[in-house]
Amino acid sequence: MNFSDSEIVASVMTDNQYSTTQDHNEADVIFLNTCSIRDNAEQKVLNRLKQLQSLRKKKPGLIIGVLGCMAERMKTSLLEESGLGIRVDMVVGPDAYRDLPQLMLDAESGHKAINIILSSEETYADITPVRYASNGVSAFISIMRGCENFCSYCVVPFTRGKERSRDPQTIVGEARELFEAGYREITLLGQNVNSYRWLKEENGLATGFPQLIEMVARVSPWLRVRFATSHPKDMSDELLEVIARNPNICRAIHLPMQSGSSSVLKRMNRKYTSEDYKSRIEAIRRFIPGCAISTDIIAGFCGETPEEHQQTLDMMEWAGFDFAFMFKYSEREGTLAAKKYDDDIAEEVKTSRLQEIIKLQQKLSLKSNKRDVGTVVEVLVEGPSKRSPDFVSGRSSHNKVVVFPDKGYKPGDYVMVKVNSCTAATLLGEGISD
Ligand code: 5AD
Ligand code: SF4
Repeated sequence: MNFSDSEIVASVMTDNQYSTTQDHNEADVIFLNTCSIRDNAEQKVLNRLKQLQSLRKKKPGLIIGVLGCMAERMKTSLLEESGLGIRVDMVVGPDAYRDLPQLMLDAESGHKAINIILSSEETYADITPVRYASNGVSAFISIMRGCENFCSYCVVPFTRGKERSRDPQTIVGEARELFEAGYREITLLGQNVNSYRWLKEENGLATGFPQLIEMVARVSPWLRVRFATSHPKDMSDELLEVIARNPNICRAIHLPMQSGSSSVLKRMNRKYTSEDYKSRIEAIRRFIPGCAISTDIIAGFCGETPEEHQQTLDMMEWAGFDFAFMFKYSEREGTLAAKKYDDDIAEEVKTSRLQEIIKLQQKLSLKSNKRDVGTVVEVLVEGPSKRSPDFVSGRSSHNKVVVFPDKGYKPGDYVMVKVNSCTAATLLGEGISD
């Protein structure tokens, strides 16, 4: 989401006579687009801000701005000289990027500039993002912003505000332009894409996410479509049916579980039980046999007992996730959990539970990849492999990274690849089509 937002920021700035650079030593203005989701994300930003201060000596007029969720959460405190030796000139929340040119004028005249007003309407629908760090093959399209689910651990509803969706015509238009520019894979992005809903004023009819994704999939059969991220409570059969009948909607669904224990899920305010979650996995398997399923898991949430942790491990084993993002619980100020529950799981216990989760997931990922050995998968080439220039790397529809010898393939090519071996993270094979 931040990657996508940075492309909007680049667009606003380049429309106002600024240009981007790959080297921060050259920059007159440095923006850090920040995440507040866990404390370690914020610590990273604070460390980076500290490092950047030394550039001020070389460039006295240098402007440093903090954008995104941390701006929203830390507000004016970022503008005050802190004990950390950090000085920031601009603080701009995620809904205020149109105001950047005006804020730049303030900052350039030596004033502190801040706009952290959240909007109930801003979707940046009319701004064409500048794809400045793209591989030219895959791109993100932001389709909705904000979240009102208020999972008890999560800061997002406070930093990104109310849920709002973007006009579907502008989304389909952006997908078409990307396809015409050579892009072959689009990820529709939102905090909770299944909540996407656009009401047509003319007839009062609504476009929901299933209709939207099908409209995007119809741009071209050669355009792959992915989406992230979904809340299990909103993962409808209707959406699964749409995925099933559109082969270019990728066979990979990210369905954050968070915990395998109904009592923990209740404290997390996730609004589903472990049985509900299981039934959604079963529905995915029924509608889209072989679909890859990935998830997010939090270890050591408030009050988590050894039994509740075990339920998470059991559910992982049952679901056989292909991939997972795994985190230790990090208390965030102002959230419902911070107000209601003690962050009472000792750090060592959180660490050891997370280690167990990671170890199990590695086993599951390896098992999932081993199943693919001997099969042929269609890979969209993204570019040279990082390890060796003689190999190219791309992804299968199941979102698995596939590396194979380069026979003159170009980014954006579709290649049928026979999978010969694997690690837990990568499939290795050889192209069998030209
Ligand atoms: N602590 C740890 N992980 C968190 N996530 C969100 N908030 C927290 C938190 N306070 C995780 C969830 C979510 C992912 C994006 O980040 O798993 O799905
Ligand atoms: Fe946070 Fe829950 Fe919203 Fe996801 S659905 S952004 S975890 S509040």
